[in-house]
Amino acid sequence: MKIVVIGGSGLIGSKLVRKLRENGHEAVAASPNSGVNTLTGEGLAEALKGASVVVDVSNSPSWEDAAVMKFFETSTRNLLAYEAAAGVGHHVALSVVGSERLLESGYFRAKIAQENLIKGSSIPYSLIRATQFFEFVKGIADFSTDGNIVRLPPALIQPMAADDVANAVGRIAMGSPVNGTVEVGGPEQFRLDELVRRGLAARKDPREVVTDPHARYYGVELSERTLVPADDARLGETRFETRLSQPRSNPEYTNPH
Ligand SMILES: NC(=O)c1ccc[n+]([C@@H]2O[C@H](COP(=O)([O-])OP(=O)(O)OC[C@H]3O[C@@H](n4cnc5c(N)ncnc54)[C@H](OP(=O)(O)O)[C@@H]3O)[C@@H](O)[C@H]2O)c1
Repeated sequence: MKIVVIGGSGLIGSKLVRKLRENGHEAVAASPNSGVNTLTGEGLAEALKGASVVVDVSNSPSWEDAAVMKFFETSTRNLLAYEAAAGVGHHVALSVVGSERLLESGYFRAKIAQENLIKGSSIPYSLIRATQFFEFVKGIADFSTDGNIVRLPPALIQPMAADDVANAVGRIAMGSPVNGTVEVGGPEQFRLDELVRRGLAARKDPREVVTDPHARYYGVELSERTLVPADDARLGETRFETRLSQPRSNPEYTNPH
């Protein structure tokens, strides 16, 4: 199949393109770097010609409230319209577990807007909601840092390896549309403050993580289970300790979402 990966140069996208090709598919990485811009529509008609599936693993370059909403709304509308014109039969998109519980944040309001546009379109779809990536732990610390102190609540979190996310997205992209939402998560739960403490210690980062039940996560006050997936979530295999003990094969990853 021809499978177009929007955001194919990103963390998940680049792993996904590799996996789809290993499985014998014609995977096309599409992003501004390769002349395809979902915000403006540039290059989309050409990229989607003959495609059976489109996977959207793009992300907004800005997380400012209005900018991120404009990114996910405009690019999703454009994508769905170009897909309808090209006869694409499956739209796959990556979202975040618990988005509807994180609506104090403009980023998650934008992810819900993206999901709703997909659910309301005529294109058969699969939505995959993943928990936070291991590669994102330093990004959480950076966002919550004041001086040398990182303040975080002890809420539960069930993070997963980016490789496991890409595997899950790939399996779904190669299958039939589920016309619904699939949740994926990591094999273990942690307390958010403890996870970040361990992640920073493994990098010999001198910042101190202070446990504060009222500290906010991207502007959101978390309750115990805000970030954890439902019981029927599909779980990745890679454990956080295993990831920490591997040489850093991924480029430094500090995006907050
Ligand atoms: N981080 C987490 O813990 C987490 C958890 C669950 C779900 N997610 C979701 O996972 C998705 C992918 O995240 P990621 O970390 O892999 O992203 P990333 O590494 O930041 O990559 C973003 C990608 O989006 C592309 N892009 C930016 N503007 C574009 C535009 N106008 N048109 C087309 N493509 C554009 C970029 O292309 P260029 O390289 O050409 O600029 C890049 O390929 C996001 O939707 C996010 O919400 C993240």
